[in-house]
Amino acid sequence: MRSRRSCLSVPGSNPRFLEKAQGLDVDEAMLDLEDSVAPAAKDAARRNIVAALREGDWSGKVRAVRVNDLATPWTYRDVIDVVEGAGDSVDALILPKVQDPSQVRWLDTLLTQIELANGLETGRIGIEAQIEDARALVNVNAIAGASPRLEALVFGPADFMASINMRTLVVGEQPPGYTEGDAYHYTLMRILMAARTYDLQAIDGPYLQIKDVDGFRRVAGRAAALGFDGKWVLHPAQVDAANEVFAPTQEDYDHAELILDAYEHATTVDRRGAIMLGDEMVDEASRKMALVVAAKGRAAGLRRTSTFTPPSS
Ligand code: GLV
Ligand code: MG
Repeated sequence: MRSRRSCLSVPGSNPRFLEKAQGLDVDEAMLDLEDSVAPAAKDAARRNIVAALREGDWSGKVRAVRVNDLATPWTYRDVIDVVEGAGDSVDALILPKVQDPSQVRWLDTLLTQIELANGLETGRIGIEAQIEDARALVNVNAIAGASPRLEALVFGPADFMASINMRTLVVGEQPPGYTEGDAYHYTLMRILMAARTYDLQAIDGPYLQIKDVDGFRRVAGRAAALGFDGKWVLHPAQVDAANEVFAPTQEDYDHAELILDAYEHATTVDRRGAIMLGDEMVDEASRKMALVVAAKGRAAGLRRTSTFTPPSS
């Protein structure tokens, strides 16, 4: 599982940002050809991105490129130029404003063609699909199952809020007048269910008030609590917050590893299916919950600070 706690959006038209991004502690660098790049700058942005991927040092990061959506004239050229130019330095392409599964399959087929023609390993480059409007959400289950290349579903709150006429201009915050709950709950949960059904990651989109790190933490914390794996970041100030919020706390991580050890000992040595760990009952379902927390902690580089001592019997 690639870690995607923090996914930094970097405009491909800005060589300085492409350079700077390499020094940031993000799990994924998302080099953008879409909405952060002006139409007149698309060609130059493709060249900048290919050069940055080939010559830059992206070690430790997932290298993703967001191409333009299929309602534009740019998508096929984005894919061909980036993958022919730097295919072995790209881990995933992000397809924005996906409408239905046929668009994901189109990208899968085109990638296979380019890989075959250029001697690249077939199927290595993954796909992330952005869910950004009502049609995408209605089709989200089919989109999630559209290709074995899919690695993540990504919520695009700005486009989504525009598409459903939500009455606010502040991306990620509750629309004024809506006080009964979380206006994003339904959307986030549908994306999460579709993602989990097909073993994909679920990633929350950007929070545009980049100076408000507390606001970022609050909104990211909601998605993380539901089970989301990460969130887009737009500014270095948001990076540490994302890495923290989407990793378990040290205490939860230690606890999860302890549950795994205790349960392993109980089922193999003592041959029991349910045991007490302190005041807590641990069974097969708790083991599964602990596995998730432990996997996220390990992926985030946490180390155990406590060890399991088998009970003396
Ligand atoms: C991201 O692409 C968004 O629309 O929020
Ligand atoms: Mg968008």
